[in-house]
Amino acid sequence: MPRHLLHLVLASLMLLTGTATRAEPDRYRPARPSDASLYQALGERAGIDAVVAGMLKRSAANPRIADKFKGIKLQALQEQISDQLCELTGGPCHYEGNSMKDAHEELALTMAHFNALVEDLQEALDEQGVPFRTQNRLLAILAPMYRDVLKSPR
Ligand code: HEM
Repeated sequence: MPRHLLHLVLASLMLLTGTATRAEPDRYRPARPSDASLYQALGERAGIDAVVAGMLKRSAANPRIADKFKGIKLQALQEQISDQLCELTGGPCHYEGNSMKDAHEELALTMAHFNALVEDLQEALDEQGVPFRTQNRLLAILAPMYRDVLKSPR
């Protein structure tokens, strides 16, 4: 998908979800917890691992955000993110890391950083042959998280 289209999709998702309220502000749950179809469409845990590895490999070398990953143990981070995505897409995993706010506060992330990471994710999804519709379902879960990940999103 062209980059500008991706940003349009992301921006729309953020607008749509911007006014939603959550009972637990820093915990995310899949829209339908009993639905594992997105987890399956991503190729289950092995597929998610491959996508996250591809994303982190790109992000750690991406001049727009590489400095944020300096000194970070990428293997451990990959496992944390895979746990989280596995759980959020309906898989049989449990993420036990820090809240998104705590994990990212020190990094002082902006929307430009967020977009760069999402583009790396999209390339990793393409590389794994994940269909466009499945990519969008995953992005729809991740997009609202910008509020906790970014320094001052609004
Ligand atoms: C929806 C977007 C994002 C999600 C779901 C996400 C997810 C995560 C998770 C699960 C962790 C592990 C936290 C822990 O173990 O305590 C983490 C840490 C981290 N994230 Fe993100 N992240 C997102 C956006 C970003 C962005 C935009 C960047 C930088 C461009 C980034 C850079 C990092 C770094 C460097 C760490 C390691 C922090 C540390 O160990 O001190 N993340 N992220």
